[in-house]
Amino acid sequence: MQNKLNELKAAALRDIHKIDSIKSLEDLKIKYLGKKGELTAILNGLGGLSKTERPLIGRVGNEVKAALTAALDSRLSELEDAELQKKLTAETIDITLPGRRIPAGRPHILTTTENEIRQIFGELGYTVAEGPDIEDDFHNFEALNIPKDHPARDMHDTFYVDDGRLLRTHTSPVQIRLMEKGVLPIKSIMPGRVYRCDADVTHSPVFHQVEGLAVGEDITFGDLKGTLELFLRRMFGAQRKVRFRNSYFPFTEPSAEVDVECFVCGGRGCPLCKSTGWIEILGCGSVDPNVFQAVRIDPEKYSGFAFGLGIERIAMLKYGVKDIRLFYASDLRFLRQF
Ligand code: FA5
Repeated sequence: MQNKLNELKAAALRDIHKIDSIKSLEDLKIKYLGKKGELTAILNGLGGLSKTERPLIGRVGNEVKAALTAALDSRLSELEDAELQKKLTAETIDITLPGRRIPAGRPHILTTTENEIRQIFGELGYTVAEGPDIEDDFHNFEALNIPKDHPARDMHDTFYVDDGRLLRTHTSPVQIRLMEKGVLPIKSIMPGRVYRCDADVTHSPVFHQVEGLAVGEDITFGDLKGTLELFLRRMFGAQRKVRFRNSYFPFTEPSAEVDVECFVCGGRGCPLCKSTGWIEILGCGSVDPNVFQAVRIDPEKYSGFAFGLGIERIAMLKYGVKDIRLFYASDLRFLRQF
């Protein structure tokens, strides 16, 4: 019996050293020391031994049990240490490594240009108003003195949505919405996205305008010219050649357009400026009395001026961008230059 116990001890110790997972070690513990385990079975059989054999075998049995328990505990702590070590190695953070660079974003050049425009007019006392991108016929055309059969509608290349609604072709409908509120005097700019079925190097189907409107008593075309001249000097510097040119808009009378000298050819004429030497950046004029009537403002008492400038055109001239499509191509080589 004593030999059997010693053999069991040797076999169990060999097994314990071979084990390489905590789960298998638990199974092994059950195999030897569990209720139905091999050592337990021997110890349970002590009752059948003679009185002289029983204490000796009992002592040896308890020694084997103590040795196996100690060996199991020691192997368990070895395996637990190894597992912890493995986990720590996997999770190691080398704090001496340089940090990962997160590329810094920056405002798009059109946003920067719009902010510059907002800043200049803000300093002149203009507030900012906004209107919807999807407009109705009344605000985009009718109230601006462009009735259904008016030839000026052809100039707008409109995208229609449904039920007579359309994507606004200019920011001028925001003027109407502002005047409809009837709070006078008005001195506001209205930046926004506009849509036209139109595309080449200086025309985009989606582009950005900033509308301007001043309404009050005794506002003249001279005020408009002075305001725009100041804006143009701030935007392009005193050296840049600009010109006011007679024009026509149904909602202003008299009307003008402003051109800035072409930055590619310096005024000599090239494909970008369509051989004119100039690039048009805005339309403007004194508010037509018919517009005041559409929004129930008395044209005998009030007068005003309005303008609508193209943000892309201004950015092209200021930063020398030869193709309007570059603004929307999301090409980082282009965008990072600014
Ligand atoms: C208008 O849109 C008028 N609503 C402007 C106005 C407002 C006149 C208030 C009088 C009073 P026009 O279609 O010319 O006008 O456009 C104004 C400016 O928007 C142009 O000078 C140009 O700078 C820009 N623009 C026009 N069409 C495009 C286009 N397809 N792509 C990029 N910019 C454009």
